[in-house]
Amino acid sequence: MNTDDIPALGPDAPVILEMSHISKSFGAITALVDVSIKLRQGEVLALVGDNGAGKSTLIKILSGFHQPDTGTIVSRGREVRFGSPRDARAHGIQTVYQDLALIGDLSVYHNMFLGREYHKRILGLKLLDNGKMRELAQTYLKTLGISIPSVDSTVDLLSGGQRQCVAVARSIYSSPTILVLDEPLAALGVRESAHVLGLIQNLRRQRAVSVILIVHNYNQVFEACDRINFLHSGEIVLDASTSQTSEEELIRIVKSGLGRTAIAAAAAGAGPGPA
Ligand SMILES: Nc1ncnc2c1ncn2[C@@H]1O[C@H](COP(=O)(O)OP(=O)(O)OP(=O)(O)O)[C@@H](O)[C@H]1O
Ligand SMILES: [Mg+2]
Repeated sequence: MNTDDIPALGPDAPVILEMSHISKSFGAITALVDVSIKLRQGEVLALVGDNGAGKSTLIKILSGFHQPDTGTIVSRGREVRFGSPRDARAHGIQTVYQDLALIGDLSVYHNMFLGREYHKRILGLKLLDNGKMRELAQTYLKTLGISIPSVDSTVDLLSGGQRQCVAVARSIYSSPTILVLDEPLAALGVRESAHVLGLIQNLRRQRAVSVILIVHNYNQVFEACDRINFLHSGEIVLDASTSQTSEEELIRIVKSGLGRTAIAAAAAGAGPGPA
């Protein structure tokens, strides 16, 4: 994929979201400890970390699904509290969960307009305006560069990658300020992943939407993201732009179970090695 035409995010891109000192426990299980993240306008931020590190919990707090035990969320300069996913959506935060919430036996265009259908009146009767939704869906998917056989096809008949694209397109259609994608590439083949990554790259190129992307594959992180936040056992152990870190460093962090600062301190403490 050609990423040469994506300029680096400027240092003056404003911070549009700040989650500060977020902690969350589920009974005896501590999922997040004093986690702080920042997201800038147009940035694609990767949230990485092992299974159970707390990634989904953090984005479920952002999307109003869970309440934090401590900490604050500041969105576009204002402290916000999301009591429900509806609150977060009303604030321009759209989340695509892994299960996608698409309805398999409905057409692509019906899925695109699920919950916000267009209607028309004929002889006083309120009917679905299928023609309009069909046409809008077709145009919109084309604008995003998403190719599917037909918007009439039921979602069941699409590939995993095409389904992901429809789910992402549906979220983008409501013009969110922040798009959160929880493992959109899990279980996708190489070609399908490339398809979804291409869609994210298009968003990144336009720098209109900020994206938080949970992803396990480091290659994809470096290909599609501006910045990486690494969660380990509920704590952020690395916050670095992709140009200032490497796959090797991420692997070192995973192996040591420590953050960049702790690794550097341990190395310094060990003193000079044998000559
Ligand atoms: N609703 C819940 N009730 C109890 N424990 C939970 C709940 N949700 C998450 N946890 C626990 O919190 C911790 C963090 O889970 P989370 O789902 O955030 O991890 P994750 O980083 O998204 O992992 P994965 O990569 O496997 O999706 C785990 O120990 C998990 O078992
Ligand atoms: Mg998860």
